[in-house]
Amino acid sequence: MTEKKTEYGRLIIGDKMELFAEAVRLAVAAESTSESQNFTWAFTGGSTPQAWYTWAHETGAIPAAVMAKTNFTVSDERCVSLSSDDSNFGTAERKLLAPSEVPVEHRHPWVVAYEPAQAAEAYRRTMQLLNPPGKAYDVCFLGMGDDAHTASFFPGSALLESDGGVFFTAIDTPQKGWRLTITPTGLQHSGLVVVMALGAGKATALKRVFEGDDTLLEAPAKILKTCAEKTVWLVDEAAAAELTGS
Ligand code: 6PG
Repeated sequence: MTEKKTEYGRLIIGDKMELFAEAVRLAVAAESTSESQNFTWAFTGGSTPQAWYTWAHETGAIPAAVMAKTNFTVSDERCVSLSSDDSNFGTAERKLLAPSEVPVEHRHPWVVAYEPAQAAEAYRRTMQLLNPPGKAYDVCFLGMGDDAHTASFFPGSALLESDGGVFFTAIDTPQKGWRLTITPTGLQHSGLVVVMALGAGKATALKRVFEGDDTLLEAPAKILKTCAEKTVWLVDEAAAAELTGS
């Protein structure tokens, strides 16, 4: 793996297995130094984490002691049933949390049965009870879309201009309907942010984020510049192919 410091955070380039293991190492290291009474770890949504869940369970890469004490959630969610294949938390639960026998009381889905605004408010209360004041999560995993979105900040998202200072919210997106998501302020109040971007489909978006003259509204993953000191990007060669010097 190679690593360099960028204005958007530490950029680590490696092969998929190295990056999968590094994601675990980063989160476990954060847990070992955490002063939180309840360690909170948010997975991301989409397809990228699915292979990681399967790998993590099959290899036992996450120490059992960490699995047993961690409070798991997802950094954004679709307003669908947990049983849906589109459910970010439902996917994490089926592929990793349930097979790893994570205690149910340590599983914190967004309450998608509620109306979006109520689901966001209920989630805010849950996270406030788990985390010390001023903290959104101990560890926040994110992905990045081919359009350079991250979490549920899609191009043009109002959240990128103002999120009201809350850590978590509901937003109606023209592209994907209602979404429940961490906000930019929530990212800035997380202990560690890990963005995983794999595959050639991410190459242009990554170039736009790291080297392009797009605005924040045009390339929302540029938001990570506001928390670069705590952000690590895990990127494979294919996704890094258009970056200068790659
Ligand atoms: C979601 C995600 C979203 C995702 C990116 C990357 O709910 O879809 O949280 O931000 O991380 O779209 O998705 P892929 O991993 O499927 O490319």
